[in-house]
Amino acid sequence: MTVSQETRARAAALRAELERHEHAYYVLDAPTVPDAEYDRLFRELQDLEAAHPELLTPDSPTQRVGGQPSSELAPVAHVVPMLSIRTETDTTDQGALNFDQRVRRALGLDEQAAPVAYAAELKFDGLAISLRYENGVLVQAATRGDGSTGEDVTRNVRTVRQIPLRLKGDAPPVLEVRGEIYMRRDEFERFNARQEAAEQKIFVNPRNAAAGSLRQLDPSITAQRPLSFFAYGLGDVQGWAQPDTHSGVLDALAAFGLPVCEHRARVEGPEALARFHTEMAAQRERLPFDIDGVVYKVDSIARQLELGFVSREPRWAVAHKYPAQEVATRLIGIDVQVGRTGALTPVARLEPVFVGGVTVTNATLHNQGEIDRKDVRLGDWVIVRRAGDVIPEVVGPIVERREGELERFDLLKSYPTCPECGSHVVRGEDEAVARCTGGLFCPAQCKQALLHFAGRRAVDIDGLGEQIVNQLVEAGIVKTPADLYDASRVNAEVLAGLERMGEKSAANLMQAIDASRETTLARFIFALGIRNVGETTAKDLARHFGGIEALLAADEAALLVVPDVGPVVARCIAEFFAEAHNRDVIAALRREMRWPETEPAPSRPTEGGLAGKTFVLTGTLPSLRRDEAAAMIEAAGGKVSGSVSKKTSYVVAGADAGSKLEKAQQLGVIILDEDALRALLASVEPEQPGDQGQLFRE
Ligand code: IVH
Repeated sequence: MTVSQETRARAAALRAELERHEHAYYVLDAPTVPDAEYDRLFRELQDLEAAHPELLTPDSPTQRVGGQPSSELAPVAHVVPMLSIRTETDTTDQGALNFDQRVRRALGLDEQAAPVAYAAELKFDGLAISLRYENGVLVQAATRGDGSTGEDVTRNVRTVRQIPLRLKGDAPPVLEVRGEIYMRRDEFERFNARQEAAEQKIFVNPRNAAAGSLRQLDPSITAQRPLSFFAYGLGDVQGWAQPDTHSGVLDALAAFGLPVCEHRARVEGPEALARFHTEMAAQRERLPFDIDGVVYKVDSIARQLELGFVSREPRWAVAHKYPAQEVATRLIGIDVQVGRTGALTPVARLEPVFVGGVTVTNATLHNQGEIDRKDVRLGDWVIVRRAGDVIPEVVGPIVERREGELERFDLLKSYPTCPECGSHVVRGEDEAVARCTGGLFCPAQCKQALLHFAGRRAVDIDGLGEQIVNQLVEAGIVKTPADLYDASRVNAEVLAGLERMGEKSAANLMQAIDASRETTLARFIFALGIRNVGETTAKDLARHFGGIEALLAADEAALLVVPDVGPVVARCIAEFFAEAHNRDVIAALRREMRWPETEPAPSRPTEGGLAGKTFVLTGTLPSLRRDEAAAMIEAAGGKVSGSVSKKTSYVVAGADAGSKLEKAQQLGVIILDEDALRALLASVEPEQPGDQGQLFRE
């Protein structure tokens, strides 16, 4: 049966249209059709090809789905070898100067000669790939292998949506595009969560996940992996009047429809290279993907040819690294730390290792839930990550290096009781975090509670710092904030007897303690350190209830009436006041302290930064529990709701988000990941003290 001219034309038109939409969606990040419309076109093409197999072409968008597994990845000889780049390990500006000097010397440029023009780009942390296009159609994709021979991963690469199966415009007879396959960090988190839910292998970093995904024998597995691609160079080229600069080549590749990273620059001279290095370092953590440095290339292709190669490394390119953010080391043991709220945080004790510019011996393991999820065992080789100023964390074990049976860590078994106070440790059924039940009896909680109580934004006791608090608590002088005002415990004589305290400082501290007796209700509520009650909520509570009596009498329902207080915060407050020892402390404090009380204010619209905004939480966030995220949103004035509607302002989506995320996408609701949520919260965070408790001062 012959295919009619009309059908042939329709198939071609569908292919062209689908390609256009895919490019807009996956490469330009600017969708041109609703998903449903895309799906309809896709199915129409699939049906046509099924009915007329002779219409099927290797570059058809329908060919991205995978197909049958193969038994091995066939070797592919690279016509133009895939080289590596020399690495400049001096991570300071000097690295750029060194490279420029070598280039100038090799080109025979003297000091008078003009600065050399360079193309500066990012060094993507994925794996190299070579894509061969013949007459614009992707015919072969190969890994780097040993540089001369790689592995055929064509069918896997076809499933990567960002990689065009056919180039746009006038493509040359042969064009080999070299670039990097990688996985975005957010995609990696989601992917790992899916793997975990399916009890499949968890990967330690996006690079490993990308490599594992690309080298699958079954392309239908690769098809489910969120891989991305950036083009950064050329291999074999035939019949193309190629641009005479590297920047020109990248522009041309972008015009062919290939993804080229926007973070690149054409600059002149080594100072500009160093500036690029510094600027990209500042952006490193905000990039959605990992980089381990930047790459400088002599921009002129003629000069590149002149410079040539030494020992399989081009003399015209260099990788200028950043300090490693991730390194491997051995997990020697696990300690726990008790926080102000009683949360027990497992802390990894590590064989000292240099990462991100400092030596690290401890890193957080977050909580038991994370340890189980990552399956970190005592004695494992682990990957430690230190990004920017954040606390170093254990990313995960290197399972391949595990020798023999290693012991699992069970926090409740190792610490059935709190290491600080001996109270029972509990972990709620679906809670990741274990907590000490000791409350203010627990010195760890008590120390932190006192520091919080004395804080500048709380009752503000100038001079009551960590050193003093530690001594007061450890000597058993102070157990609760109320003890600070008990002259039989804390007086000038006692204070003067502490380490690093003279009579003068003791007198000053006594004065500060006395001065703190006069405060505001909002400061007092904040000072109590109720979980999830920040300054804003404390102010709202003060304004709403007017006095402590009314607040103590409020049940959850009454608390929910307060603007900004949602169910999570209401429960935390109610639980706090239900504790007898907390009530005792409050009663004692009330005897010592004063603040103006007012008539309860009628409810009025909140002033929280997210007032009027409704959030829906779905899926598993990388580090926040859902109730924690809810509490943070509520504390900033937002409301948390259970279902997505047109009125929803934001959907906060984590791994394995299901129908709610879909619905949000359909309705065009703004979708945030955890980082974006944190950024949003930070942007509406109220300014420092100053405005605290104004209502009562005036
Ligand atoms: S150019 C002849 N550019 O780094 C130069 N490589 O050692 C060929 N890489 O595994 C490489 N980002 O996959 C070049 N912007 C970039 C790159 C880059 C990452 C990787 C590449 C290779 C290694 C080179």
